[in-house]
Amino acid sequence: MAQIGILGLGTVGTGTVELIEKNNDIIEKRIKERIDIKKILVRQSNKERPIALKDKITYSFDDILDDEDISVIVEVMGGEEPALTYIRKALNKGKHVVTANKEVISKHGNELLKIAAEKNVNLLFEASVGGGIPIIMPLKQCLAANDIFKVMGILNGTTNYILTQMTEQNKDFDEALKEAQAAGYAESDPTNDIKGFDAARKLAILSSIAFNTRVIPEQVYTEGIDTVTHSDVIYADELGAVIKLVAIGKKNEGSVEVAVTPVLLKKDHPLASVSGTFNAIMVEGDAVGPVMFYGLGAGKMPTASAVVSDIMEAVRNKNGNKIYCTCYDSLKVLTPGETVS
Ligand code: NDP
Ligand code: HSE
Repeated sequence: MAQIGILGLGTVGTGTVELIEKNNDIIEKRIKERIDIKKILVRQSNKERPIALKDKITYSFDDILDDEDISVIVEVMGGEEPALTYIRKALNKGKHVVTANKEVISKHGNELLKIAAEKNVNLLFEASVGGGIPIIMPLKQCLAANDIFKVMGILNGTTNYILTQMTEQNKDFDEALKEAQAAGYAESDPTNDIKGFDAARKLAILSSIAFNTRVIPEQVYTEGIDTVTHSDVIYADELGAVIKLVAIGKKNEGSVEVAVTPVLLKKDHPLASVSGTFNAIMVEGDAVGPVMFYGLGAGKMPTASAVVSDIMEAVRNKNGNKIYCTCYDSLKVLTPGETVS
């Protein structure tokens, strides 16, 4: 029995609990151990929790950290702090960590991966990009033989949902945003979605892995969809196009260009038909050519799919999986308009 502690019981935490309960027999067949959720950290004591989980709820992180039986800590709280401190402490204590936190990984992944390597534990973050879409592991493992020179995609479910509702259902921006929040797709502060910061964090993670370099969110040229109006959507349609928030990372002879920006895409472009909370990521490598990953990029169960699969990976590889420890080249990250001399 692999005992785990979960930090957070919101959209993703609840999905994680439900998926483990539902599929524990399948999980046991695949990794020869059942997963037992021993403790769950939450913040608010006056919030209703499922009766079956009442005995597992704790308000103290140390209660989970100091529990010798817990070998995997699953961080699905969100935000930079205290999540970063908790992850760092968990790794230093020799516990495996699974997280869906793109803010922490994009800003501090380098430091945290080093600790994980030193302590021979796993730091896994498949859910941090693309929700349920497998993309981190394929980049690190299945496409590892390639020189990857381009990643391009729709990386934020909330903004894609809003743009789709504006385009196909004639809804206004605020109404569509409220729906995305109610469904649990949006970040706790939806500004991160709307202004493109969430997509920039995801692009920084993907570019760092794909190009073996270190790209941080501040280096990503970032524009959101907050300035896109209903008229823009109608004009785009008249031009035979759609507006999408697209993230692009390109490597070119020692430099990297990274940007998140709304773009007009012709309706026959492969990304144009990616609607609602679906995400898609196109990767181009020298040997494989173009590859496309597509699926639900946000939401309770798709994200839980990635989180629980990472928990299984951590239980399976008890000594830490070294393929996650990226060796960094120092490629120059270009600002828009800058060219390499
Ligand atoms: P929610 O806001 O729904 O849930 C957050 C949970 O964390 C709540 O249970 C909250 O407790 C708990 N929490 C927050 N801060 C603290 C704290 N300081 N101490 C203890 N508990 C705390 O977030 P989501 O589930 O939507 O997102 C979680 C993470 O997953 C984020 O990093 C997000 O970016 C990422 N993610 C989300 C996806 C989605 O579709 N929602 C998809 C992919 C990744 P309480 O219940 O008491 O308020
Ligand atoms: N807020 C994020 C999105 C959640 O809408 O894509 C998934 O990372």
